[in-house]
Amino acid sequence: MAIVTGSDGITPREGWSSRTAFVLAAIGSAVGLGNLWRFPAEAGANGGGAFVLFYILCVVLIGLPVLLSETLIGRYGQSSAPESVRRMATESGASRHWDVLASIGVLSALLIVSFYCVVGGWVLYYIGVFAADVVQTGIGGGAFEGRDPAEIEGLLPGLFGNGPLMIGLDAAFLGVTLYFVARGVKGGIEKVAVWMMPAFFVLLLAITVYGAFGGAFRESAVYLFTIDFSKLTGPVMLAAVGQAFFSLSLGVATMITYGAYVGRDVNLAGTSGTVGFADTAVALVAGLCIFPIVFAAGLAANAGPGLMFQTLPHAFQTMPGGSLVGLLFFVMVAFAALTSSVSLLEVPTAWMKERFGIRRGVSASVIAAMAMVLGALAALSFNELGDFHPLGFVPLFEGQGVFDVLDGLTSKLFMPIAAILTCVFVGWIADRRLIDAENGLEGGLHRIWLLLVRWLCPLALIGILLVGIFPSLTA
Ligand code: PHE
Repeated sequence: MAIVTGSDGITPREGWSSRTAFVLAAIGSAVGLGNLWRFPAEAGANGGGAFVLFYILCVVLIGLPVLLSETLIGRYGQSSAPESVRRMATESGASRHWDVLASIGVLSALLIVSFYCVVGGWVLYYIGVFAADVVQTGIGGGAFEGRDPAEIEGLLPGLFGNGPLMIGLDAAFLGVTLYFVARGVKGGIEKVAVWMMPAFFVLLLAITVYGAFGGAFRESAVYLFTIDFSKLTGPVMLAAVGQAFFSLSLGVATMITYGAYVGRDVNLAGTSGTVGFADTAVALVAGLCIFPIVFAAGLAANAGPGLMFQTLPHAFQTMPGGSLVGLLFFVMVAFAALTSSVSLLEVPTAWMKERFGIRRGVSASVIAAMAMVLGALAALSFNELGDFHPLGFVPLFEGQGVFDVLDGLTSKLFMPIAAILTCVFVGWIADRRLIDAENGLEGGLHRIWLLLVRWLCPLALIGILLVGIFPSLTA
């Protein structure tokens, strides 16, 4: 494989050891809590089929073109995200301030990793709960035998009521993330993806097959794929596009950052397609895997964020071997979440390391410390800081605590805005020869991609942003 060189063009830079390592790391970044926890919750809360269809449309028509645009900027620039954009801009004779599209991403990545690790902490908690149950009651019967279902559903509110425990679990998850990021691209980030993603796929398959036999598979498919267009309102569309971006790790400069570690011999269009396909497939399988269990137990689909943490454990109660299935399920979620949080922490880490010329370990630790402060505030928004609404004066964030603000601000504003800028930059500003040399597309596909990046993606994104922020526009 080609040697990847640093900013001076001579010194070897950090890079993936192979194309497979890159693809697994990128899939690892994309597949995470977004697919397993956020997607079913959003689909359930936004009316099922119409949301799912619009989400898939967003992935294909907006997500994939943007994914390719981001990776190609990274590979061209071979630097941290803002510097990569600056290089492409300067080389194209454009203003270096286009780097703002990546700077927004660096900020978003910090904000997301802060609340993401809080949810990662919840996953650790459930691993503990199920592991204890396996030890206590064995794996023969359902989970939590003889315990009141209300008690099981009460586990999450119980955790939410315990600020210090949540902060401790957040610190644990962030600590593991930091460990792998500090070890570098080959020694840490790549290792975690290469080991955990295959294990993740095996577990997902096993649990889905299990759910298909035991649960209401048909009912789930009907729920996820029956389309009622009247449900496709402005906010639902914004939620769907936000979900598509969140799930594909876009608008956060992750793919620019990961693209910078890719060798010249890799076809970026091909890898983008693989990553997009794998991510969407996992989201749909996760829906088909979670809803049968939920429906089989006669529970509600629109439980929102509680779906994975409350409804599902409750459902594991009635299932033969439920404690073991539950344990494996949450281990699988933790694997997926870790490969994503690693990619999130890497974005600001790479920036700081390059910007201030400091060691990777130091830079990762400083960023993690900031994420810890924000994460603690997010964790406390479920209890002590429940009445603190930092952006309460903005209608979109009315009544929301720190956790929801971090999520909403990034997925509904920063990510789409960064993506719009990325499309304008790649489609209109950057030198076509630079773009064409990187994108790995030819003929008709190349023309379609350019058309999407220049017109459809930015215009659709602006439209969706507007109707999402001002729902009265569609009323
Ligand atoms: N895509 C990840 C997930 O679905 C989350 C993520 C968002 C990761 C943005 C990196 C950047 O869980």
